[in-house]
Amino acid sequence: MVLESIRYTRGSLSILDQLLLPHQTHYDPIYSSTDAWHAIRSMRTRGAPAIAIVAALGLAVELTNMKISPIAEEVAIFILEKLDYLVTSRPTAVNLADAARKLTRRVVDEKAREGATGESVRDVYVTAAEKMLVDDVRDNEAIGDHGAKWIVEKTEAGARGQVSVLTHCNTGSLATAGYGTALGVIRSLHKKGALKHAFCSETRPYNQGSRLTAYELVHDEIPATLITDSMAAALLRQKGREMNIAAIVVGADRVAANGDTANKIGTYSLAILARHHGVKFLVAAPRTTIDLNTESGEKIVIEERPGKEVTLVKGPRFDGVSLDLNVVETISIAASGIDVWNPAFDVTPAALIDGIITEVGVVEKDAHGVFHLDEIFKIEGDE
Ligand code: MRU
Repeated sequence: MVLESIRYTRGSLSILDQLLLPHQTHYDPIYSSTDAWHAIRSMRTRGAPAIAIVAALGLAVELTNMKISPIAEEVAIFILEKLDYLVTSRPTAVNLADAARKLTRRVVDEKAREGATGESVRDVYVTAAEKMLVDDVRDNEAIGDHGAKWIVEKTEAGARGQVSVLTHCNTGSLATAGYGTALGVIRSLHKKGALKHAFCSETRPYNQGSRLTAYELVHDEIPATLITDSMAAALLRQKGREMNIAAIVVGADRVAANGDTANKIGTYSLAILARHHGVKFLVAAPRTTIDLNTESGEKIVIEERPGKEVTLVKGPRFDGVSLDLNVVETISIAASGIDVWNPAFDVTPAALIDGIITEVGVVEKDAHGVFHLDEIFKIEGDE
């Protein structure tokens, strides 16, 4: 069975509700851009690439099923307004803004074409949105293979034999159109027979690691162990050598032009730990996550989410002896009345990052410690 976060055929879209995983598998239909906006904001669908694709396809489904005006200008205005609205759903991941920018360009070009009609503008939009779904899986497989090769060939652990890797948050099939980015690297290492073991961190506060990454690793039968976020330092110290841990590999929500990277909260502390323990720290992301218009991490807007995501946890009923998977309960794990700060992401400075794995190769710093990310946009292939 293939793990699918997004199910799409022309005119029909549904998303796997990731708030119910791993205990319940439920697909929610998405009929419109408004449905897509709410699915993204509530995090029923999440992960930078998945957010962009669900937004693009939510509007594609709406356009496919509505009565279309024959006037190109009217349809173009409708689409551009919806794209502006979709971009407001979550601010940090740049993939959504990047997708909206590219789709806007296609729509504006078509509208300006002599003979364009409302239907032709709609068709150009829908075709471009559908292509994003297909391209994402292809790009992730390439990211996985480039990352796995780099780890095997360029790390001391790789030279010693099978390697172990630690990852954070969820960057797999659930966070993308399929395969995943950092989890794609783990999948590719496993496929090559080069993976000894994967470790995934719980990823507080919303537990994407324990709920989603652990679910994907179990699903794919990849040898893996879950740790809480606070165990990472002890893991590197006590098991780093024994388990031949080569790298910490994470995804990204936005990589600034200088390589500073916004990713799930907790990523920055893992990068510091990696440096202290002499383990490589790698960011795996498609070029759609690289934002050359944002100079450095200081300029990245970090989303702050409701405190309830910290104070409440959801899970199946447990009476002290047995679990009842049919009844999902929410319980509070904090003193009521306490103030909560809940930034969803943090920024890891480029200085702590050893390589950025993209679909066109792994970018390393030059002799002066500088990433030249603009170079990878000159390489052939869709971006
Ligand atoms: O808040 P989330 O769950 O959307 O955060 C997801 C992450 O931080 C991922 O690491 C990132 O989006 C990359 S997913 C391929």
